[in-house]
Amino acid sequence: MELRSEGVATMIFTLLLIYYSSLTAGFEIKSIFCSISDSCDCDFKPDIKGLEWDLYKNLYGQHMAQDIVSEAVVSCLQNENPDRPLVLSFHGASGTGKSLVSSMVGRHIYGTAMGSPYIHQYVPTLHFPSADRVQQYRSDLKQWVERNLTACARSIFIFDEMEKMPPGVIDVLEPHLGPFHVLFQTNYRKAIYIFISTVGQDIINKFTLESQQAGIDREEIRPEELEEVLADAVYNTRNSGFYQSRIITEKLITRFVPFLPLRRRHVERCAQRELCQRGECHRADVVSSVGGAMNYMPQDSPYFSSTGCKLVPAKVNLFL
Ligand SMILES: Nc1ncnc2c1ncn2[C@@H]1O[C@H](COP(=O)(O)OP(=O)(O)O)[C@@H](O)[C@H]1O
Ligand SMILES: [Mg+2]
Repeated sequence: MELRSEGVATMIFTLLLIYYSSLTAGFEIKSIFCSISDSCDCDFKPDIKGLEWDLYKNLYGQHMAQDIVSEAVVSCLQNENPDRPLVLSFHGASGTGKSLVSSMVGRHIYGTAMGSPYIHQYVPTLHFPSADRVQQYRSDLKQWVERNLTACARSIFIFDEMEKMPPGVIDVLEPHLGPFHVLFQTNYRKAIYIFISTVGQDIINKFTLESQQAGIDREEIRPEELEEVLADAVYNTRNSGFYQSRIITEKLITRFVPFLPLRRRHVERCAQRELCQRGECHRADVVSSVGGAMNYMPQDSPYFSSTGCKLVPAKVNLFL
């Protein structure tokens, strides 16, 4: 009898020991499991409806970004075994909503925009400031990306201000962006990459202006009319981050996303939202003063706000 209870006690003790050691070693076990099984989902909490709603409700005047981003992110998230990562390249003038959309994507995939350990944002002027250290940056970048993908196959990488990225740096990621099966035991095909730049803004702005002058509704502009010219622009522009890059010739960018220049009505919606956030929803006078105080371009047909919605909070302060 005594022997039997001693046996039970030993068994309980052993089980407890296994339980506690698995708790402390949990992190390592999890990361080893993730890298072998490729099925680790990190803190992945995608809210597709939330993303679609946010884009529809809080992004003004960007029908192409709304459609492309929802469609691309939905198909990437619904596919348990995508054949390549999702690679988006956002283009357009300053203050048109590029960073806003990238943070919406992060927020609806991980529940928190830039706070998640699985969302990585690179700013060239901060992380890659000097053009003569390209080799160093290439190896640093490759290591960062691989380390982060080992921790989480569904990582999101956001490269803002690509026009300031020294040429040649981003090419180191060519193998990661392609349809390669498994590299270094990690599935690289579940990641999301978002590149952001103002490259191509002249093309987009000119196209939008000409459409408008031809009486074509802004919402009728189709992405196919701009995507190819944007690919050419980034390939041929020295300061685009993708100058003569194989990432472009190998067609590794899933979608180019054009952001159109904003009109006065869009700026006024930004002002209205800003006022409501401050509990001053009713101040229609401030909305129209902000709309009137912006600079519009081009000079001979000033339809588009030259700073998008960027200066709206400052102007609201001025008129409130
Ligand atoms: N199309 C838009 N719809 C709604 N808000 C916008 C839009 N474009 C810009 N904004 C607002 O203006 C500010 C600057 O936008 P941001 O996304 O940083 O511009 P950029 O295109 O330069 O990255 C943000 O506060 C953002 O909320
Ligand atoms: Mg930005």
